[in-house]
Amino acid sequence: MLIVIPGVLDAATLEQVRALLADAPFVDGRLSAGKSAQRVKHNQELDARDARIERLNELVMATLVQHPLYQAAVLPHRIATPFYARYTRGMRYGDHVDDPVMGPPGGQYRSDVSTTVFLNDPGEYEGGELVIRTAFGDQRVKPGAGAVAAYPSSSLHQVAEVTAGERLVAVTWAQSMVRDPQRRELLYQLYQARESLLERQPDAEETTRVDHVYVNLMRLWAEL
Ligand code: NI
Repeated sequence: MLIVIPGVLDAATLEQVRALLADAPFVDGRLSAGKSAQRVKHNQELDARDARIERLNELVMATLVQHPLYQAAVLPHRIATPFYARYTRGMRYGDHVDDPVMGPPGGQYRSDVSTTVFLNDPGEYEGGELVIRTAFGDQRVKPGAGAVAAYPSSSLHQVAEVTAGERLVAVTWAQSMVRDPQRRELLYQLYQARESLLERQPDAEETTRVDHVYVNLMRLWAEL
């Protein structure tokens, strides 16, 4: 399941993030790529040693992890600190699946859900779509600044070539409490039905029943 949540970061936060990134040192993205991804990865990433990272993470991650739709769709158990990536003209990231296990020794986690946070306006670059290859065809995503796209890390995906301008994103990964993407999707659909019932018919018996089924399915499937 690919979900796109618009407006996770507001305009003021985005402005601060872009100001921090404007004069930050970027390095070749291949330095952080696994062996097979190195062959197809062509972008730049903020130098992981740069002092701005801490402030950037506060701005981007604090908002992301608290967002109710992100929580409901991803069911995060562990979330990685993000990479800040830049694609200028001619840059792309060819078809790949993300590394299965990430993080330093002792702090490793399994990547279940990949997340892209779009940091600038889609009008500022041409191309640069995030393309998820699904059994039902390609899904191409190029949402507004502040939007978030989350999809299973196991899915084949790419970033199309940027042919003009500059694409700025933050990317991160989560280990989910629910490992199976099909189960996560079912839980997310049930969550949405529950939210709608709780709003429209808070006192109805079926609302209570759906609520209990959601809660107990989570208990049944959650692994910590
Ligand atoms: Ni990827």
